[in-house]
Amino acid sequence: MAGMVRQLSFRPLTRTSRAGKPWGLPGLPPRSDHVRRRMTMSVSETTMRAVTLAEFGGPERLAVTEVRRPEPLPTEILVRVHAAGINPVDWKVRDGKVGLAGLYTLPLVLGWDVSGVVEAVGPGVTTFRPGDEVYGMPWFPRAAGGYAEYVTAPSRQFARKPASVGHVEAAALPLAALTAWQGLVDTARVTAGQRVLVHAAAGGVGHLAVQFARHLGAEVVATAREPRHAWLKELGAAQTIDYTRERFEEVMEPVDVVLDLMGRVDDTDVRSVAVTRPGGLVISFPEGVSEALAAAGAAAGVRTASMIVEPDAPALAAIAELVDAGAVRVEVERTFPLGEAAEAHRLGAANRTRGKLVLDATR
Ligand SMILES: NC(=O)c1ccc[n+]([C@@H]2O[C@H](COP(=O)([O-])OP(=O)(O)OC[C@H]3O[C@@H](n4cnc5c(N)ncnc54)[C@H](OP(=O)(O)O)[C@@H]3O)[C@@H](O)[C@H]2O)c1
Repeated sequence: MAGMVRQLSFRPLTRTSRAGKPWGLPGLPPRSDHVRRRMTMSVSETTMRAVTLAEFGGPERLAVTEVRRPEPLPTEILVRVHAAGINPVDWKVRDGKVGLAGLYTLPLVLGWDVSGVVEAVGPGVTTFRPGDEVYGMPWFPRAAGGYAEYVTAPSRQFARKPASVGHVEAAALPLAALTAWQGLVDTARVTAGQRVLVHAAAGGVGHLAVQFARHLGAEVVATAREPRHAWLKELGAAQTIDYTRERFEEVMEPVDVVLDLMGRVDDTDVRSVAVTRPGGLVISFPEGVSEALAAAGAAAGVRTASMIVEPDAPALAAIAELVDAGAVRVEVERTFPLGEAAEAHRLGAANRTRGKLVLDATR
């Protein structure tokens, strides 16, 4: 199925005004102009390749199809996607087994992380123009259709791509970096001198969290298998713990903040309470705070929080600055053409990725 192109009847990705009505906002053309423009466009201008999911299930359900190209509404930009980052939420939704999957109707184009070039701007957009290089995590958790050649989304959900890296590296950043940033900066408000434990530190969120926490002046403890340790120390970890050989709570001093990226796996969430100072905070990302974590936290005087990442252009701009300043490096383990999205999902779901996996939307 990988690489196969077939025609799907596809729900339009654009959102239209009520039929026949002008937009009714200052400076916007009547809807008839919009329809006339579309009628004079060739098929290749009105369609694009996208990786679609017609039914929930395994990676083999992902297929490259020809679908309608979206058009920007007022306040939106149309982005020619050069690369699309892959995240665990993508295969969790694809499987259809998590509650989150109920948010989506099929067929669905997965993917939220994109880096690309602004192709067109909708009426009212003042901050970008065609040709600008942008990156973002638009619409999350609504469907964004990132595994495709084009996306449209509100302009203010994007920021300028870090100039010092290519589209592949930029596309690896948004969801993982915003998760780490919103956890450390906005939720935990980490300050210099605090201690932070990052679980799954070698993964997409983890390797960025280690660097952000270090940048904030924290001392970082990281859990990962031993072959990752030298790299994580280069990124700023003061202590690394091989979770396959040691129980972290037996070999480390207490911390102020835990970024728990493992959740209920091996009771990582509950065990994290034992290494958190009273008044400290455990943020549990995979499934949020379980009853067991809430009870353990309450008994120990440790705060617990569930957090879900949100689109955040100011944070993306700050992250781009750190990347361009050389303070943060993004690791991409492997890239795949759009037609190999299924293979990328298989590799990602094996839960051994160092950094990120990315789709090259130009191939
Ligand atoms: N709530 C939210 O908004 C939000 C946002 C982003 C992510 N998440 C969730 O957070 C989790 C991590 O996301 P991610 O993108 O960072 O995943 P990822 O990149 O796929 O993580 C892979 C890493 O997990 C490590 N790992 C596997 N088992 C481990 C264990 N028992 N202890 C420590 N490390 C372990 C592996 O490191 P080794 O090779 O060293 O084993 C691998 O490098 C996922 O469940 C994801 O869905 C939630």
